[in-house]
Amino acid sequence: MIPGARLIILGRQGAGKGTQCVRLSRHFVVPHISTGDMLRAAVREQTDLGVMAKEIMDAGGLVSDDIMIGIVRDRLKAADADTRGYILDGFPRTIDQAVALDAITEELAKPIDVVLDLNVPREIVLERISSRRVCRDCGTNYTSDGHDPTPWICDVCGGDVLQRDDDTPDSVNRRLDLYEEQTFPLMRHYGDQGRLAVVNGVGKPSSVFDRLVKAVDNSRT
Ligand code: AP5
Repeated sequence: MIPGARLIILGRQGAGKGTQCVRLSRHFVVPHISTGDMLRAAVREQTDLGVMAKEIMDAGGLVSDDIMIGIVRDRLKAADADTRGYILDGFPRTIDQAVALDAITEELAKPIDVVLDLNVPREIVLERISSRRVCRDCGTNYTSDGHDPTPWICDVCGGDVLQRDDDTPDSVNRRLDLYEEQTFPLMRHYGDQGRLAVVNGVGKPSSVFDRLVKAVDNSRT
C-alpha cells in the first residue's frame, strides 16, 4: 500500500492547487484540507465564521491568523489526518501561520514531509482565473470557453456551475499582491528548513501531477 504523506502546497491563486490536490489526495489516500473550501462551506451555511469571512474573501483580503490557525489546529487532530496525513491547501499563507503550524506539527510529533511550490507566472494565472467556473455545491472546477451554458449544471452532483464571487479582476489582483507580500516569504522559511520543492505548474494537468508526485517521492529518498 502506498504510504501516506503530510504535504503543504503553495502557489499563486489560480496556479492549480485545488485541481492537483484532488488528484494527490486520491494518489496518497489522504484528505485534501483546503482552508478556502472550509471558509466557502461556512459562507454557504451562514455560520458566524461564514458571515464574517464572506466580506473579506469577496474583497480578496485574508481572514485573521488567529481564526485560521484555530481551524487548522482542530482539523489536523481529526482521525483521518492523524492516521495517514493530509495535503494542506491555502494554509499557511503568512509567516505567523507557518510558525504556528511548525508548533502544531511538533506538538503532534508529525513533521511535514515536503512543501510543494506550484510555480505558475502571474500572467498565466490571470488567464486561468478569468475562465474558471466552479460548482457551487461540490466545488468541481470547470473552464469556460467564453460560451457558458445557462443554466450550467455540474456533471458530478447536478449543482449550479458559476463564477466564484471572489474571481472579479479587483479581488484577484488584490489576492495576487497579497500573495507576493505575505505568502512569498514562506519560500525562504521552508527553504531554510530544507523542505521546499519548486515544481513547474505550467503544462497539462496530468504532466503537472506527475511532477508533483516525483517531487514527493524524491523528498523521501
Ligand atoms: P482559496 O480557496 O485558497 O483561493 P486561492 O488561494 O485564491 O486559490 P484558488 O482557489 O484561486 O487557486 P488554485 O491554485 O486552487 O487554482 P485552481 O485549481 O482552482 O482562498 C479563498 C479565500 O479564502 C482567500 O482569498 C482568503 O480570503 C481566504 N483564506 C483561505 N485560506 C486562508 C488563510 N490561510 N488565511 C487567511 N485567509 C484565508 O485552478 C484555477 C483554474 O485553472 C481552474 O479553472 C482550473 O481548471 C485551471 N487549471 C488548473 N490547472 C491547470 C493547468 N495545468 N493548465 C490549465 N488550466 C489549469
